[in-house]
Order: sequence, then structure tokens, then C-alpha cells
Amino acid sequence: MKILIIGSKGMLGQELAKVFADQQLTLWDREEVDITKPEEYGLKITEVGPDLIINAAAMNDVDGIEKDDAMAKLVNGSAVGSIADMCSILGIFMVHYSTDYVFDGTRQAGYAEGDKPEPISKYGESKLLGERLLKQAASEYYLIRTSRLFGNQGAGEGTKASFVDKIIAKAKEGGPLQLVDEEISSPTYVVDLAKRTREMLVARKPFGIYHVTNSGACTWYQFGMKALELAGFGNVPVTPVPASTFPRPAKRPAFSMLRNTKLPPMRSWEEALAEYLGKR
Ligand SMILES: NC(=O)c1ccc[n+]([C@@H]2O[C@H](COP(=O)([O-])OP(=O)(O)OC[C@H]3O[C@@H](n4cnc5c(N)ncnc54)[C@H](OP(=O)(O)O)[C@@H]3O)[C@@H](O)[C@H]2O)c1
Repeated sequence: MKILIIGSKGMLGQELAKVFADQQLTLWDREEVDITKPEEYGLKITEVGPDLIINAAAMNDVDGIEKDDAMAKLVNGSAVGSIADMCSILGIFMVHYSTDYVFDGTRQAGYAEGDKPEPISKYGESKLLGERLLKQAASEYYLIRTSRLFGNQGAGEGTKASFVDKIIAKAKEGGPLQLVDEEISSPTYVVDLAKRTREMLVARKPFGIYHVTNSGACTWYQFGMKALELAGFGNVPVTPVPASTFPRPAKRPAFSMLRNTKLPPMRSWEEALAEYLGKR
């Protein structure tokens, strides 16, 4: 299968490239394409002639976007619609990723695939715009919502270290650390997400919205404590604090666990984290 992966140097994109390495891959990141400029890449995509486009490119700077969302609306919003348009024209399907931050986080039980998104941040709004434009432009797509990704940092210039890597880097300095004991969501290992994407394609799952996260949910404090324990920094002093300790520009959902009602459950986030940190 000829697959075009866009955002291939991101945290997820680089794992997708590994998981689909046995296919005829074309890997694009910012050097090859600016997804906000469809007039420049329409022809390029036609020349590649993919059977499938996977879009893992995004802007994820939640607080930066809260201050200025113009670029996020393009990258996370209208660009997704333009790529979906191309897929429709070429008669191929598209895989795209979205986020738990499209929900307002008031539902303690979490959100199923069909629940109504009501974002409370500009980042969430930009990702929801992308979801809407994708649905308008195409009928054959997998829209995969995920949350709290961890894994090897992407090679792209704008990609960030995940929460896990940041916490471990701080623990190496000796601490003490303060971690927010609020905002419940499901950490997700990019390797598991990439593998699940492939499994969905192989199984020819019906097109539509899917929620793909590792099983279980936790606060940032619980997530960080587990990471520190697994990485051998269990002795670093850590204090659980409320979110109000660190005022940030963007609001975060209090409960944004993504309920997966369509696929078999994935392994627990703790097990995936142990693998990532080499403690199987
Ligand atoms: N990270 C999370 O915790 C999280 C949570 C929920 C959902 N998601 C979603 O999961 C997907 C993958 O996220 P990720 O964490 O792997 O992202 P990432 O590491 O930030 O990678 C995104 C990639 O997209 C590229 N990109 C950005 N703007 C572009 C443009 N205009 N044209 C071409 N490429 C561009 C980036 O290049 P530069 O580095 O050069 O900017 C980067 O290589 C995204 O849809 C994201 O919204 C992520």
C-alpha cells in the first residue's frame, strides 16, 4: 500500500513511520510541505499517488495557542479540511488525530465517541474545527481522538518533550517537584497508538470516530509518580498540588477520559509506561 504520512517527524508520526515501514511510504514533515498552503502541495500529493494519507501534523502548544490561535486554526483546522478535500478528489481515505481537549471535561465518567464536543480552550476549538472540516470534506476517514501522549520526542523543530520526559529531567536535578493532582485523563503511549492505527486499517474497521488511549486514567500527579518510580527516582520529593498553583492561559478539562466503545481495550497506561521506561 502507498501511504503518505504527514507530520512524520512528530512524536506520533515517527512511530507511524516505523509501524508502516513495510509499506510503500512517503514521509513528509515541515521541510517537504507546509500543510497551511494547499495550493503548493495539491499537485505534489497527486504525483505521490497515495492509497491513504495519515495526518499526524499538528500544533499542540495549548497555552501559546490560547494567546494567539491564528496559526492553530490553519494547522489544526483548515489544513485538515484541505487534506481531506484532496483525499476525496483522489478517492482515497484519510487517518487523522484529534484530542480529548475537544470536550469540556465536566463528565466524570468520560466521553464516548458520539458525545458532543464542547471545547474550553482555543487549542480544543482549533482541533474541533479540523474534525468538522474533515467530516464535511470526506466520508471515508478514521478520526482518532487520543490523549496525553508519551514516547520518544519527535525530531521536528517544534515538537516538545512529553510530560514523562520533562518530569524525569527535573527529577535528575534532584527536585523537589510539585505536580497537579487534578485533570483526569488517559496517558497514551505513541507506540501503542501507532500499532492500533495499523490494526484498525488491517481489520478494515468501519470509517468514523474512534477513541484510542491506553486503559485507565489518572491525574498528572499520579502519572508523574508512576513515571518517577519506574525510572528509579521514587525518592525525589513530590508534592501534589491543585491546578491553581500553576495559573496557565488555557483552561484544561477536569475529566476528559475518552471512552472507547468500538475497539478492544488497549493495555493499561502503567504497563505501557513501564515498557517505555524499560522496566518490563
Ligand atoms: N501530544 C499530545 O499529548 C496529544 C494529545 C492529544 C492529541 N494529540 C494529537 O496527536 C497528533 C500527534 O501529535 P504529536 O504530539 O505527535 O505532535 P508533534 O510531536 O508536535 O508533531 C507534529 C508535527 O507536525 C509538524 N507540523 C506542524 N505544523 C506543520 C505545518 N504547517 N506543515 C507541516 N508540518 C507541520 C511539526 O513540525 P515542527 O516540529 O517543525 O513544527 C511536527 O513534526 C496531533 O494531531 C495532536 O493534536 C496529541
